[in-house]
Parts: sequence; C-alpha cells; structure tokens
Amino acid sequence: MHAECFVTGGSGFIGQHLLARLTRQGHPVTVLLRQPQTLPQLQQQVEQLGGDGRLLRGVAGDLSHAQLGLDQAARQQVARAAVVFHLGAQFAWGLTIEQARAVNVAGALQVAELAAGQGSRLLMVGGYMLENHAHLRRVGVDLQQPQRTDWPAVYRRVGGYEGSKLEAHFQVLARMQALGGELTIVHPATVCGHSQSGHLLAAQPLAQLIGNLSAGKLGAIPGSVAHWLPLVCVDFLVELMVAAAFDPEQAGRQVLALDERTPNLHGLLQVLAEALAVKAPQRHVPIALLRALLNIPGAQRLLRTDVESLDFIQTTRFDTAATQALARKHQLTWPDLPAALQATARYVAGEVRG
Ligand SMILES: NC(=O)c1ccc[n+]([C@@H]2O[C@H](COP(=O)([O-])OP(=O)(O)OC[C@H]3O[C@@H](n4cnc5c(N)ncnc54)[C@H](OP(=O)(O)O)[C@@H]3O)[C@@H](O)[C@H]2O)c1
Repeated sequence: MHAECFVTGGSGFIGQHLLARLTRQGHPVTVLLRQPQTLPQLQQQVEQLGGDGRLLRGVAGDLSHAQLGLDQAARQQVARAAVVFHLGAQFAWGLTIEQARAVNVAGALQVAELAAGQGSRLLMVGGYMLENHAHLRRVGVDLQQPQRTDWPAVYRRVGGYEGSKLEAHFQVLARMQALGGELTIVHPATVCGHSQSGHLLAAQPLAQLIGNLSAGKLGAIPGSVAHWLPLVCVDFLVELMVAAAFDPEQAGRQVLALDERTPNLHGLLQVLAEALAVKAPQRHVPIALLRALLNIPGAQRLLRTDVESLDFIQTTRFDTAATQALARKHQLTWPDLPAALQATARYVAGEVRG
C-alpha cells in the first residue's frame, strides 16, 4: 500500500537516502524546500540513489518561519500526508543558541503541531545521545521533569546544535502528548556512508574525520581503548526509519539506530586508514586534555576538530535489543560495517581528489 508522505530535511544527507527509499517503495513524497527551484537536482540525486524522482513534489517553506512558511496550496498538499518525517535541522558546530533554537526547536514544534493537527503519524529524527541518560544528567537535563531544565546552561555545556536537539526532543514529546498526536522517534548514531557505494556528503562528521585522517592531521586517538564513536550506515538507518514509521506497534516508541558492532575508535581508525593507505595513529590522548587544547583560541581551526564533536566519542554501551527485534520483524539485514567503512573511506577520498 502506498502512503503520501511529507519530509523536512529531504535535501540533506539522510533525507536524500530516505527519499530514495520511500519512492523506491512507491510512496509519493512532498518535500519542504527552502529553495524549491532545486527540486530537479534533488529528483536527479534521488534517482542516482535508486529512488523514483517522479514521485517527488516540492513545497516552498522554512522551519524557522511562522507556519513553516507554507502558503495555502502547500498546506493543502501537505495535509494529505499519512506520515510526516521530520529530519530538517541546522546541523553545524558553533551555532548560537538563538540560531539553533529558531530552526531545531521552534521548527520541530511547528512540524509536531502540523502533524498532530492533520492526524499524520510523526517520525522525528533525534540523536543517539538522547539514549545516554548518564550524559544527559551530567550536562544538566532534568529527566524526571524536563520542563524544569535550565536549557541555556545545557547549551553552554554542549553547544548550540546538541543543546537544541536535546531541547527539541523533550519539547516535542510534551507537545505531542498534549495534542494526542502519534509520534515515533528514531535516534541515529553518527551516520556512516552507504554500505555499498560509500556515498557520504562532505559536511558529515564522519567525512570530516576521514578527511583529517587522510591528510595526516590526526596524530593521536581521542580517548582510551574503551572509547568509541557509534555508527549506523545510512541505508540501514533509512530502512529502519521507514519500517518504524509504518509499523503501528512503533507509535509512541523510540528507536535507537546504532550498530553495536562498531569497533572502538582505535579499530575504526585502523579500518579507515587501511582503506586510505595511510598510517593510523597508535597513541591515545585523553579527551579532557584534547578538550582543554581545543579551547585554546585558534586550536579548533588548526587541528580541524571542533570541541562540540568530542561529546559523541564516549565509553557508554547501549541496549539495542528493541532495535534488533524491529529489524528482525521487518527482515532488515545489518550491513557489513567494516566493508561499509572501507567503501565510505574510498568514496570520501575520491571526492576530495575530484
Ligand atoms: N548525520 C548524522 O551523523 C546524524 C546523527 C544523528 C542525528 N542526525 C539528525 O538527522 C537529521 C538529518 O541530518 P543530516 O545529516 O541529513 O543533515 P544535513 O545533511 O545537514 O541536512 C539538513 C537538512 O535540513 C534542512 N534545513 C536546515 N535548515 C532548515 C530550515 N531553516 N528550514 C528548512 N529546512 C532546513 C537542510 O535544507 P537545505 O538543503 O535548505 O540546507 C537539509 O535538508 C538532523 O535532524 C540531524 O540532527 C544526524
């Protein structure tokens, strides 16, 4: 059965793959676009990723505008959606609290209100740090009564992007509960390229790590042998998102999209280095020392690493039993992660060489 969908963030990295997956399955999709004139390029890209560009329609809008900037015709078009996928976000380091909140919090709330108001299921993309409760408590989130959290203090601790993702999550949960809307949240780990083609956009955090490794800018491994950067392949992630969005049992649930077979950071860098034919760093540098170094003015630019990215490297292990069960139910196969990492490293290096 084909269902009309509305997608925000469809032009982004995960979004492009989601559009390919949805249209390959025959679902007609309306995409919120800040630049609607780019629809033909997006259709072409979706075709290249194996989707059907003819099933895509664009509506002009912006997450930071009142009513998402949708005109009446666009609202009518969007109202047909059985499922709203919310991926759109300002995904960058160094955002001010105001910049991050305007798009990532206020925008998410508007999408939630739209979905609840028109009776669409909302599939929202969060982030796996929301499943690390010890981290949330440490940075000041009140898990018992999230509305009592001192959000500006959380933003100061974790930066604009991460702060706004955390705040948006709790605000949307509360708003959807108040409105009686149907919500499923998928929390992706850091996203790895496509498991076969290695396709990964240059702005993605893993592409930046690969770039630093390839340029010989990574002299040491951040953290200890227990530290890891949990990953999920983009193709598996979007399969999981689509499965969760159309599965009635997943209403009201949160899904952690994380491949628990991700090696520790040392192992990860070794796999990538081998594919890039460069030497992997062997020495470890404590995260606290790295954080202190990166806080020296100019150091982030020099080391091509942003202090906000360090929180994602951690020692916490996660319970993925519910995700495994969802994958089994929908017969989704976890990709071979080392092979996907090699493909991703080769893809990113190829893009850099041009
Ligand atoms: N990639 C990861 O490792 C990762 C991990 C965990 C969670 N996530 C979450 O997954 C979602 C998608 O991430 P991604 O990696 O695909 O990000 P991305 O490539 O940076 O894409 C961001 C998307 O959001 C759109 N957007 C930004 N500001 C907007 C605005 N004011 N109004 C409307 N659209 C706007 C962008 O549209 P334009 O084309 O107009 O810029 C783009 O389509 C985000 O919510 C992110 O927080 C990502």
